[in-house]
Amino acid sequence: MNTTAAWFEDRIAAAVAPLLPGFGVEAVAEIDSTNTELMRRARAGRIEPVLLVAERQTAGRGRLGRAWQSAQQSDEKKAAASLTFSLGLPLAPRDWTGLSLAVGVSVAESLDPSGAAKVALKWPNDLWVNDRKLAGILIETAMPHAGRADAPAPPRYLVIGIGINIGPREADGMRTPPAWLRQWRPDATAPEVLAELAAPLVRSVQAFEAQSFAPFAERFAARDALRGREVQLSDGSVGLCEGVAWGGELQVRTADGLQLISSDEVSVRPRGMAFRGRP
Ligand code: BTN
Repeated sequence: MNTTAAWFEDRIAAAVAPLLPGFGVEAVAEIDSTNTELMRRARAGRIEPVLLVAERQTAGRGRLGRAWQSAQQSDEKKAAASLTFSLGLPLAPRDWTGLSLAVGVSVAESLDPSGAAKVALKWPNDLWVNDRKLAGILIETAMPHAGRADAPAPPRYLVIGIGINIGPREADGMRTPPAWLRQWRPDATAPEVLAELAAPLVRSVQAFEAQSFAPFAERFAARDALRGREVQLSDGSVGLCEGVAWGGELQVRTADGLQLISSDEVSVRPRGMAFRGRP
């Protein structure tokens, strides 16, 4: 099946290949999930750097085992209503902590360089505008085949999946309706947005590999959607959010003292905002 849109594959590959030799771009009309596909390839030994964009996902996945549904519009517009893609590459940072936050910073800065559109980061890696979700990030890694026990740790294959609402979408069971990019960039298209953010994203991932979360900490703080707010955690505790620590953990001051939250399995919300799927 051919893609509906032109995805600027050559332009993106030309911008990224100098940073990532062997890099390629693939655009497909439909797939189950771009993350699932790159993880499947990695498990089969295919660990080349690649960006895979799909106009439609039939089984898009979100964090914490949730489904990710893209915007539904008429067939002719469907390709432009959402941007769903995954970037796959081998990576060997000293410490993986904070990678998803660094990715969020990179995407937020590409979508809203001046900050005028108020694209904020909701720990660990949602992009929000006025407390409404604009984009989500799902990071997964595949282990390479084990080498000799005394060999240094080989790179893992990293898959960064990103879904961005370009046009309006249904609330899909979310209590808070989502945000979308055309609210402040009425002419934006998914292929243009992908072309804008691909190379900065690769540069950010490489900066993280070299320097960990430190270069991103202040930039995250500048867009932190939770800092200074009362928050509730999915484990039932509540407290005042004191922002993100230098290691990428969320700091919440509860009745028991300052909690550093690093678990991906914990959800956090501003107090009073319902968790997804809960009354
Ligand atoms: C979340 O908000 O929970 C993360 C959503 C991530 C969605 C993207 S869309 C492209 C890639 N493929 C997937 O199946 N998921 C990610």
